[in-house]
Amino acid sequence: FKVLVLNGPNLNMLGKREPAIYGTESLNDIVELLTKKAQQFEMQLEHLQSNAEYQLIDRIHQGHENVDFIIINPAAFTHTSIALRDALLAVSIPFIEVHFSNVHAREEFRKHSFLSDIAEGVICGLGSQGYFFALEAAKQYLLSKQA
Ligand code: DQA
Repeated sequence: FKVLVLNGPNLNMLGKREPAIYGTESLNDIVELLTKKAQQFEMQLEHLQSNAEYQLIDRIHQGHENVDFIIINPAAFTHTSIALRDALLAVSIPFIEVHFSNVHAREEFRKHSFLSDIAEGVICGLGSQGYFFALEAAKQYLLSKQA
């Protein structure tokens, strides 16, 4: 199985950015560990972080042919992007939405997501663990669809 991990704007600053909210681990550290976990699961993992909405959209489109599952932290685009929603609908690749922080315990504008209602599931507030839980869930999901 091939899993695509997408991270949106400002997540390249992870570890340096508001560490009280987002933790001190860097995105590279997390992706490295996540890649190892994927190997244990005999899954192939690809990662893209971008600050540009169109790059995330283009990568989703490219996944049409060969990506089985998407794990996405759309960051601030969660709350703004109908275009990302439409891209995910266009390719109909199942996905899980992940957030480091508990978006429901923060500002009002973070409570709405343009993606949550079309996601297989949503994980928030568990820090980097959320990505690992999402990978585990993706594996179970794909195995169950295969059977
Ligand atoms: C975030 C939450 C978003 O509201 C915010 O804009 C981010 C990160 C998270 O992982 O907690 O950039 O997606």
